[in-house]
Amino acid sequence: MCGIFGCISKQPQNLIKKTLEGLKILEYRGYDSAGIAYITQSKLKVIKQIGGLEQLIKKVKNQPDTTICIGHTRWATNGAVSVENSHPHLSIDGTIAVVHNGIIENYQDCRKQLETKGIKLRTPVDTEIIPNILCYTYNNKHNIHKYLKGQYVFCAVNYKKQSLFIAKKGNLPLYIGQDQQVIYITSDTLALPNSVTQIISMNNLETCEINGSKISFFYLNRPIKKQWQPFNQSFTSSNKNGFSTYMEKEINEIPSITQQIIFQYTNNNNLLKLRQKFQQDLKNTKCIHLCACGTSYHAALILANIIETNLHIRAIAHISSELSETTLLDEPSLAIVISQSGETADTLNCIDILDTKQIPIIALCNITTSTIAKRSKYTFPLLCGPEIAVASTKAFYAAVLVGYLLFNSKTTISSSNLIRNITTTLKISRHLLHIPTQLPNKIFIIGKGINYYLALEAALKIKEVTYLHCEGYPANELKHGPLSMVDNKTLAIAFGTDTANAIAEITARGGKVITIPTPTPSSQLSSISQIIPIQIFALDLALSLGYNPDKPRNLAKSVTVL
Ligand code: AGP
Repeated sequence: MCGIFGCISKQPQNLIKKTLEGLKILEYRGYDSAGIAYITQSKLKVIKQIGGLEQLIKKVKNQPDTTICIGHTRWATNGAVSVENSHPHLSIDGTIAVVHNGIIENYQDCRKQLETKGIKLRTPVDTEIIPNILCYTYNNKHNIHKYLKGQYVFCAVNYKKQSLFIAKKGNLPLYIGQDQQVIYITSDTLALPNSVTQIISMNNLETCEINGSKISFFYLNRPIKKQWQPFNQSFTSSNKNGFSTYMEKEINEIPSITQQIIFQYTNNNNLLKLRQKFQQDLKNTKCIHLCACGTSYHAALILANIIETNLHIRAIAHISSELSETTLLDEPSLAIVISQSGETADTLNCIDILDTKQIPIIALCNITTSTIAKRSKYTFPLLCGPEIAVASTKAFYAAVLVGYLLFNSKTTISSSNLIRNITTTLKISRHLLHIPTQLPNKIFIIGKGINYYLALEAALKIKEVTYLHCEGYPANELKHGPLSMVDNKTLAIAFGTDTANAIAEITARGGKVITIPTPTPSSQLSSISQIIPIQIFALDLALSLGYNPDKPRNLAKSVTVL
């Protein structure tokens, strides 16, 4: 995970401000600590702080003009959360600073080699070896991929050369963007300012050196040419639109997203062509494997059910990290990978496995420039705009809706009914589920069929932002074990009209049950809107407990580690 952002310009300017603005947008990638490094007249200055970006901003008192500034938001993998372990890491002589995302697997060996040269590192963090091997071991830094093992991207500032050096191995994202005056480095194009008109995506085993406005690229030490791609970003992703949290804003966007998706998927020529291509690909398919993690996996479960019901094709939803070389994938198959970010390492690992079995991969993905999109045969965009809150809400709805449209080519869908239905659900959500005066000691969410998968997603949402124990369960399965846990401090939330027996069993044991009414007219799709009251409940409960629902502890939005 972790976010990298950097700027370099020919003329000194306030690049510290630009870097902090970029980091603010990348904060979803990790918020254990943050730091920046910039060049002053006499040295390389590093400022870092634990906690979110706001803590770092308080510490950055002055913002002198500079020609290079790099920054980092950290999600700790290697070494505890502390100021020393935060990035940027400096070489022992103080001339090279590095920000890094990923893991250097052979860092212990590198550390020992540095020690034989008398270089004693200050922290247990793998990143710290990078500025030091660049400083003390390497004549040719473009050879670095031969030396370092693992998946990583890093960006190094060299004070003596007044330059930036970037290296990427594996699937982690890194983009370079430019406007009239500045070249930017970023883990996500979302963080680029609207003035950027061109971007380049770094690929596996490449390195890049930037000096002022001069950029050179290398592939394993061999100079290569790369083309700038046009880039146009007109939205302001940092805008909460009057809501106090991104999570609330994003839930409230569900009606407009629904309209947009239905309109685009039924009118946009490119998407209509893509849908035809998909129909061709479906023709000889005997089995569809859906792969995803977390919330996207719950969307996969729902879509597998929809595929089997509507298309009568076998469909299996896999948790990405559970798919392995030994998973049976023999029949003529098609794979559908679902991902909001398009950068999830477990799902990318799945793509590696599917590739070796030569199974065509189609992505349902929100970020169409992402690694998952690039590695797929083609991508159906989720069209839900940037999702900033760590807890995924609108992207879940979008993934199910896009999938539903793909697996129902013959059905016409009335968007107005659906949107009316969702808007009503949004309005009544806070009346359905009140914040309990006494906190339950456990929460069960129950449902059958698709509603069971919704229950899994609902439970994940509550766990993620409230830190309360909550389990999604198939309604009739409760009596086969977990019913023993039910007492008068238990809260159960029930989806659907077919959970009456389970509800009776819970209330008979003192548990409190709240039923979410099934939307009318009831359909595969309208039932998905039942997730909205739970998303709002999770949000309100988190706020009432004093937690920030946009940034739950220990998590990050884009999970780029295995
Ligand atoms: C959802 O609320 C979670 N933050 C998480 O489970 C997420 O859905 C999962 O990490 C997959 O992410 P992706 O959709 O970007 O691949």
